[in-house]
Amino acid sequence: MKKKSFIFGLIAVLLLALVGCGKSAEETSSTNGEAKKKVVVGTDAAFAPFEYMDKGEIVGFDVDFLDAVMKEAGIDYELKNIGWDPLFAAVQGKEVDLAISGITINDERKQTYDFSTPYFESTHMILAKEDNSIKNALDLKGKVIGVQNGTTGQEAVEKIVGANSKNIKKFENTAVAIMELVNGGVEVVVTDNVVATEYIKNNPDQKLKAIEDTKNFESEFYGLMFPKGSELKPEIDKAIKKVIESGKYEEIYKKWFGKEPNVDNLLK
Ligand code: ARG
Repeated sequence: MKKKSFIFGLIAVLLLALVGCGKSAEETSSTNGEAKKKVVVGTDAAFAPFEYMDKGEIVGFDVDFLDAVMKEAGIDYELKNIGWDPLFAAVQGKEVDLAISGITINDERKQTYDFSTPYFESTHMILAKEDNSIKNALDLKGKVIGVQNGTTGQEAVEKIVGANSKNIKKFENTAVAIMELVNGGVEVVVTDNVVATEYIKNNPDQKLKAIEDTKNFESEFYGLMFPKGSELKPEIDKAIKKVIESGKYEEIYKKWFGKEPNVDNLLK
């Protein structure tokens, strides 16, 4: 009788230990001792220098910035490359807890998502071959234009040439759109200014130029994107401010862009 209950006890302890092991793989304990789920962050890693794949790893300005923010907030997280269009569905459906992907904060998106406080100021630029005669955004009319589908770049182009223009070619990601430009499938690509200028800097042999037009292209701000009502937003906003104020932001900015950031517009 005694032996039997001992064996039962042993089995129970072993089972509990097993269940415990399974849990610790997906849950990590927070400082106050209670179990916390690992936060899942989604991205579209084809948008250098913000997020792109390098030797099988997701790297970029956003990746370093996210890491600094999550460390500051004390949040354990995992970054997943899931692509641009799926990213919006994944945040809405709460398959991921948030997204970082050079995502512009705008009124239309704000109806469906919550955004963090802004962390980067951007505008659009036109990428073209060096010998293209295009001077400004109004010259986009009549040109075959490449954009990444569902981006503010697409919107900016539609404003100028009309939403129904057959000359707008929409690509799944920005890297493919730029490849099309290099291969002659489109005459220009409209994308975020830093993506355009960094691409030219890193690919001098491809003889491309970037055209700025601050009159016809508006200034935008990037934010982290959450499902509506996310409980993470307040602590992440706090951490973002801290990262910007502490000089950590400046350090990351300098690493990726080789110059000092102007953070005044971010701290307003
Ligand atoms: N800033 C633009 C937007 O929000 C383009 C962002 C594209 N980002 C990316 N990882 N593909 O629409």
